[in-house]
Amino acid sequence: THNIIIDCDPGVDDAVAILLALASPREIELAGITTVAGNVPLARTEYNARRICTLAGREDIPVYAGCARPMLESSGVGSTVHGDDGLGGVLLPEPGFALRPGHAVDFIIRAVLDAPGEITLCPIGPLTNIALAIVKEPAIAGKIKQIVFMGGAAFCPGNVTPVAEFNIYADPWAAHIVLSAGIRQAMFGLDVTLQATITAPYLDHLQSLGPRLAKIAAMMRGYQAGDPCLHDPCVIAWLIDPTLFDGVPGHAMVCHQEDALRGNTMVAIKARHLQKTPANITLMTGVDRPRLLALLTERLSHY
Ligand code: BDR
Ligand code: CA
Repeated sequence: THNIIIDCDPGVDDAVAILLALASPREIELAGITTVAGNVPLARTEYNARRICTLAGREDIPVYAGCARPMLESSGVGSTVHGDDGLGGVLLPEPGFALRPGHAVDFIIRAVLDAPGEITLCPIGPLTNIALAIVKEPAIAGKIKQIVFMGGAAFCPGNVTPVAEFNIYADPWAAHIVLSAGIRQAMFGLDVTLQATITAPYLDHLQSLGPRLAKIAAMMRGYQAGDPCLHDPCVIAWLIDPTLFDGVPGHAMVCHQEDALRGNTMVAIKARHLQKTPANITLMTGVDRPRLLALLTERLSHY
C-alpha cells in the first residue's frame, strides 16, 4: 500500500484523482490532502477538496490549506478551464467537516518526519507547498519515499504557452526547487496525460452507473479544456497499477526566468547526456488508455 499525501488545486481532474485514490484502499492510503492556489484561489481549492471528500463519504480525511500564492509573484495565474468554482459548476454537497488548523507545509513536514521513507507525495497542482516544505525543513528531502507529480511538457507543446504546462508555469521557482532536491520523482507531464483523453460516450456510460457517478460525469463535462484529459488521475493510476504506463529515466530542468521560456521543462533522456547530468526523474511517456479508463470506471463504480 502506498501511503500518500495529495497536494492539489481542485480542479476537476484533481477531484477525479482524489476520488480514484479514495476508491482504491487496497493500493492507497490517503494520509491527507493539502491544497494550494492554482486553478482557482486557495480558499476555493481547500473548500473544493472538502466537498469532494464529503461526496465520497470520507469526512475523516484531514484537509489542510497551504500557500495562497507562488514563490515570486503576489498572486497566482489561475485557470478558466475548470469553471468559476473550479469544479465545473456542478451542484455538490457542502463540506460536512472543517479544514484542519495549521499550515499544509507543516503537515507535510510532520508526516514525512514521523514516517521516514514511507510517504509518497503526489503534487497535482503548482509545486509551491512542496518547495516550501523542502526549504523550511531540508531534512525531509532524504525521508520522502518519492514524489509523483503532474506537470511539465518535455517533448510536446505546453498548454499555457507554447513551451509551458500550467502547474509548472504557475510556479516555476517552486518547480526548480523540487526538481533539484535530490528526491526520487516521476513526472507525469503532458507527454503522457494528453494521451488520457475522455470522450462524450465514456462520460455517458459513467453517468448511467448511478447518481454519484452522474455528478462525477457532470463535473468532467464542465471541464472546458479543448481536449478534456485525465491529467491528475494518471498520478494515482500509476500507483495503483504501474503496468498501465511507460517511462524512461531523464534529467529534468525548469526555466524559471520571467521570459518567453518561463515554465519550460527541458528533459534529457539520451544516455550520453545522462552521464553528465544524472537522471533526477522518470519521465512518463505513454499510457494504455483503454485499460486506464477501465480502471477508472471500475473504481468509481464503487461510489
Ligand atoms: C494541470 O493543470 C490543471 O488545470 C489541471 O488540474 C492539471 O493539474 C494540467 O496542465
Ligand atoms: Ca491540478
